[in-house]
Amino acid sequence: MIDLFDRIYKDKGPLGKWAKQAEGYFIFPKLEGQISNRMQFNGKEVLTWSINDYLGLANHPEVRKADAQAAADFGMAYPMGARMMSGHTKYHEQLERELAAFVHKEAAYLLNFGYQGMVSTIDALVSRNDVIVYDADAHACIIDGVRLHHGKRFTYQHNDIESFEKNLKRAAKLTEETGGGILVITEGVFGMRGEQGKLKEIIAYKEKYNFRILVDDAHGFGTLGKTGAGAGEEQGVQDGIDVYFGTFAKSMAGIGGFVAGDREVIQYLQYNLRSQIFAKSLPMPMVIGALKRLDMIRTMPELKDKLWENVNALQNGLKEKGFNIGSTNTCVTPVYLEGEIPEAMAMVHDLRENYRIFCSIVVYPVIPKGMILLRLIPTAAHTLKDVEETISAFSSIREKLATGVYKKVAASMM
Ligand SMILES: Cc1ncc(COP(=O)(O)O)c(C=O)c1O
Repeated sequence: MIDLFDRIYKDKGPLGKWAKQAEGYFIFPKLEGQISNRMQFNGKEVLTWSINDYLGLANHPEVRKADAQAAADFGMAYPMGARMMSGHTKYHEQLERELAAFVHKEAAYLLNFGYQGMVSTIDALVSRNDVIVYDADAHACIIDGVRLHHGKRFTYQHNDIESFEKNLKRAAKLTEETGGGILVITEGVFGMRGEQGKLKEIIAYKEKYNFRILVDDAHGFGTLGKTGAGAGEEQGVQDGIDVYFGTFAKSMAGIGGFVAGDREVIQYLQYNLRSQIFAKSLPMPMVIGALKRLDMIRTMPELKDKLWENVNALQNGLKEKGFNIGSTNTCVTPVYLEGEIPEAMAMVHDLRENYRIFCSIVVYPVIPKGMILLRLIPTAAHTLKDVEETISAFSSIREKLATGVYKKVAASMM
């Protein structure tokens, strides 16, 4: 009989296998100092483009003050226990009311973590006879939620409406046999490539097919739409979203999240979300801190305006210089280059050490072989000077990539 750990000793997994070459630098890097456009990496100041603090709230003095005051007033432990048992407070309820109003829904329910919350929401919304239809590029939390489903599921090609309808038809046929319903799941914004989910087109199919839609708007909340209510508001179809999901990990610069929808559905989730029933409630500083952040998002539109000034300057500037930024229509700014993984590592090393620019790097298998994706997340804390500096650095590294400089560096390190 083999030892259970034999496989673990041999196979470190798709990311773990890179640990030796990449740990501490490309994987598990340590960004230090106050969260801002400039932080410390490896003892040097770098211009940071890898933090989802879209509205620049993470280190805003008013936010820091509210967080510190809440921690002083309540400590980090209060309330103890799950919401249902002993972890419920009027502040949790207030935050839920305010979030619901902000995303134009009747009710909302808090989640301790976006990821677990989404897994649990999917689990709670469907039963064995129901069929899930979801975008093939969905975030891991959607994929893992779908994995809990005992019934059938169909994926459609990413943002491909023809493929969506084809799979919706299959689902509709199947539910005639099972007697179940259909849950469609997409993201409001696909966080890697920055494309919005085609909510308007998908929701239009509700006239023809009977389904409910759950939208993961982690990157849309606070950044898209006139009031910041997200991708549904941006596309004019917020009412058509049956269950709206947002996280506090991005625009809200905190931790936790929420689901919002019709009162009866949210009430059902309150009693059936296993990630909340069997886990401790969000600590008070997170709740009070979230109330402060939400208030600032609502009353300080200049934060979103500054974010978009930076987004537009960065994306237009990159396009003018001939960079391929794909089809982003959100703040997420991917820059696609061509090269193999060792060259990509040499290039990012150069970018960090010599140009002092820190951004995320994505390679195969997340994107096709031979492609390199450098992902930039502009925030309200960036300046137009940061943008200029970055475009100039990118032009320089692109030139080096094209002339084989990084290939040589990579070969010499082998
Ligand atoms: C699209 C998307 N959904 C869900 C999550 C998970 O949210 P959280 O970090 O709150 O667990 C993330 C990442 O943060 C995300 O990018």
